Amino acid sequence: MNFELTEEHLAVQAAAREFAQSELLPGVIDRDEQQKFPTEQIKKMGELGFMGMMVDPKYNGGGMDTISYVLAMEEISKIDASASVCMSVNNSLVCWGLEKYGTEEQKEKYLKRLATGEIIGAFCLSEPEAGSDATSQRTTAEDKGDYYLLNGTKNWITNGKSASIYIVIAQTNPEKKHKGINALIVERDMEGFVVGKKEDKLGIRGSDTHSLMFTDVKVPKENRIGEDGFGFNFAMNTLNGGRIGIASQALGIASGSYELALKYSKERKAFGKEISKHQAIQFKLADMATKIDAARLLCLKAAYLKDQKRDFGKESAMAKLFASKTAMDVSIEAVQVHGGYGYVKEYHVERLMRDAKITQIYEGTSEIQKIVISRELLK
Ligand code: CAA
Ligand code: FAD
Repeated sequence: MNFELTEEHLAVQAAAREFAQSELLPGVIDRDEQQKFPTEQIKKMGELGFMGMMVDPKYNGGGMDTISYVLAMEEISKIDASASVCMSVNNSLVCWGLEKYGTEEQKEKYLKRLATGEIIGAFCLSEPEAGSDATSQRTTAEDKGDYYLLNGTKNWITNGKSASIYIVIAQTNPEKKHKGINALIVERDMEGFVVGKKEDKLGIRGSDTHSLMFTDVKVPKENRIGEDGFGFNFAMNTLNGGRIGIASQALGIASGSYELALKYSKERKAFGKEISKHQAIQFKLADMATKIDAARLLCLKAAYLKDQKRDFGKESAMAKLFASKTAMDVSIEAVQVHGGYGYVKEYHVERLMRDAKITQIYEGTSEIQKIVISRELLK
C-alpha cells in the first residue's frame, strides 16, 4: 500500500489550490448572495484543463487519472462548491459517460468541446415524481424511426441554463421497465426544449439549478448513447463515477471549513489565551481532522479502484455517504469555533455549512447510498 502522491498529483493539487485562491475566492461571497453563475471562472477552469480532466487527450482532455480529479475537486470545493458542482457534472456525468459509451461521431461533435470547457453539459435524470426512485421515469422518448419524440419535465438540473448539451434519460418502452429507458443527447437549441424556472436554494447558490421542459422535441437516433434500452444502466454506471466527484466536493467543503477554523482558533483570544489553547476547541479540531482524513482515504480508494478498472460502485457510495456526513459535521463545528463571527458571511464558514447539505441529497441521497452499499454487501 502506498499513501504517497506522485509529483504529477501534487502539481495538479497545487494548480487547483492556486486557481481557487486567486480566481474563485475574490467574488465567492457576492456570487452566493446574487445567485450568480461563475461564468468567467468556469471558462478559465476549462482553459486550465479542469473541465475534462480524465478525457483522453485525443478528445482534447487532460488524460489524467481519477486521483488527480479528487485532489482538484477538493481544492476547488474548499473555496467554491458552486463552481465545483459544475466541474463535477461536466467531468464525471457528461464527459465520462460520452467517452465510455458514446459513438465516435458523438465524441467528435460534443466531447471535444466539452473537454475544454468551450461548452458545458448537464445530466438530466431526476423528475418531479422520480428522484430516488429513478426507474419511474415519466419523460417519454417515443421511437419514430429515425428520431425520438421527447416529452416530459426534468427537475433540479445542475448547469440547467448554462449548458449547451443535455444528456436526457427517458422512457421508450414502459413495458420493459428500466430496460426500456434511453439516454439521449439534446442540444440547447432543439425546437420544443424550454429551460424552466431557476431554483432559489439554501446553498450552492452560484450553481444554476433549473427545471427543463421538453415538448415534442425531435432527437435524431444518432444522439442515443449506447444500445436501445441501455439508458438506465448508462445512468447508474455514470453515477458511480459521479459520486466520487460529489464525495470529493464534500471532502473539500469539510477541509475548507476545518482550515478556516484552525486558523481562526489560533488568532481569537478568550479568557486570556487563544481559543486553540482551550481543550474543548482542541478536541473539535481533532475530531474534524480525523473525519476528514477518513473521508479523503475513502475518496482516494474509490478513485484508485476506478483507475485500476476494478468495481468501485460500493466504494464510491461509501465515499459519498461518509464524506457528505463529514462535510455537515465539520462545517457546523467550524461555525461553532468562530462563535458569532461564524454566523456572518464574511468569514465564509456559514456558506460552507449551507453548501454542505446538498452533498447528502444529490447524486443519490444518503439513504440511497446505503441501499447501494448494502445490496453489494448482501449479493
Ligand atoms: N451501479 C451499476 N448499476 C446499478 C447500480 C449501481 N450503483 N445501482 C443499480 N444498478 C442497476 C442494476 O444492476 C439494475 O440493472 P440490471 O437489471 O441490468 O442488473 C438496474 O440498475 C436497476 O436496479 P434495481 O433493480 O436495483 O433498481 P431499484 O429501482 O430497486 O433501485 C437505485 C435503483 C439504486 C435506488 C437507483 O434508482 C438510484 O441510484 N437512485 C438514485 C438516483 C440518483 O442518484 N439520482 C442522481 C441524479 S443526478 C444528480 O443528482 C446530479 C447532481 O446533483 C449534480
Ligand atoms: P425523494 O426521492 O422524494 O426522497 C425524499 C426522502 O425520502 C429522502 O430523504 C430520501 O432519501 C428518502 N427515500 C426515498 N426512497 C427511499 C428508500 N427506498 N429508502 C429510504 N429512504 C428513501 N438531478 C439530476 O438528474 N441532475 C442534476 O443535475 C441534479 N442536480 C441537482 C441539484 C440540486 C441543487 C438538487 C437539490 C437536486 C439535484 N438533482 C439533480 C436531483 C437529486 O438527484 C434528487 O433531488 C435526489 O436524487 C433525491 O430525489 P428527490 O428530491 O425526488 O427526493
